[in-house]
Amino acid sequence: MTVKKFVLFFLVCLIFATIRIQYSSAAKPLLLERKLHKLNEQVRKHDGFVELDSDLFDEFLAKPRNYSFVVLLTALDSSINCHPCREFDPEFRLVAKSWQKTDNPSRLFFGILDYKNGREIYNKLKQNTAPSLWYYPALEGPFAKDVSEPDKYDFSSKGFRAEEFASYLSSHLGVQVPVKRPPNYFMLMLSVFFLTGALAAIKLLFPLVRGIFESKNTWAAISLVIILMMISGHMWNHIRTPPYVTSNGGHINYIAGGFQNQYGLESQIVAIMYGTCAFSIVSLTVAVPKMEDRMKQRFALDGNPSGNVQPHIRVV
Ligand SMILES: *[C@@H]1O[C@H](CO)[C@@H](O)[C@H](O)[C@H]1NC(C)=O
Repeated sequence: MTVKKFVLFFLVCLIFATIRIQYSSAAKPLLLERKLHKLNEQVRKHDGFVELDSDLFDEFLAKPRNYSFVVLLTALDSSINCHPCREFDPEFRLVAKSWQKTDNPSRLFFGILDYKNGREIYNKLKQNTAPSLWYYPALEGPFAKDVSEPDKYDFSSKGFRAEEFASYLSSHLGVQVPVKRPPNYFMLMLSVFFLTGALAAIKLLFPLVRGIFESKNTWAAISLVIILMMISGHMWNHIRTPPYVTSNGGHINYIAGGFQNQYGLESQIVAIMYGTCAFSIVSLTVAVPKMEDRMKQRFALDGNPSGNVQPHIRVV
């Protein structure tokens, strides 16, 4: 090879290399822009989410990708009968729709991949249950993180509600993901209807039940019940939910040892004891002074009908 030929060959190589570099650096943003255009079209069409199949899944998740992607693998076909899929579907759509009203919606897209359109992806992700939810962080751009592995949403610990899903996304994105539930007009009307009905009923019936409301005894009885519930430890049970009774070695413990504990039955025993005391006091102050028969009255006071012992409790 002569020197001339070698130089020529070298120059041709150089030209090809430059063309190639220019082509690839120009193609990358073009590819990304085309994908974003396609994604935004879908988002507009479906009011917030992107409907995927196996090919679109691969396309939208491939590099270049400066947006995050959250994908719901679901199975809404009636033949599969996936109840949790149907439960979560509207919640997912609600979050996707609410997200579109934030400042920078194109940093995260919401995809739904139904089993009937994406068996290959189910196999690739080794998923045989639905629904499953995957968060794919952005791979480049200002929102890219060091991690590129997808994160799987744990339905059993986080739950199926839009608010729970949104707070999961918030922790990934570092911005608040809102949930804007549309008002339920039917329930609103129903409650207004029933409230009006209830107010009318109260107005009609008030003269009849007025006596009950204005009676001292009603309020005394209500107060007594509340006091007994509180001092017997009902509130404590409500907060700590202790066992009703426990058993050890075949015999049952009704009363818990120590001062820091109690059982459900124990508080009922205490309530009965206090209730008996309260009943006795009320009887002594209200019923006994009204007794006609002096003998019975004396018996009620000190249990000794014949004796002429002075009553221990004087009732005025
Ligand atoms: C991603 O890249 C495209 C094209 O360069 C750009 O228009 C868009 O704003 C970028 N998105 C984010 C979230 O940075």
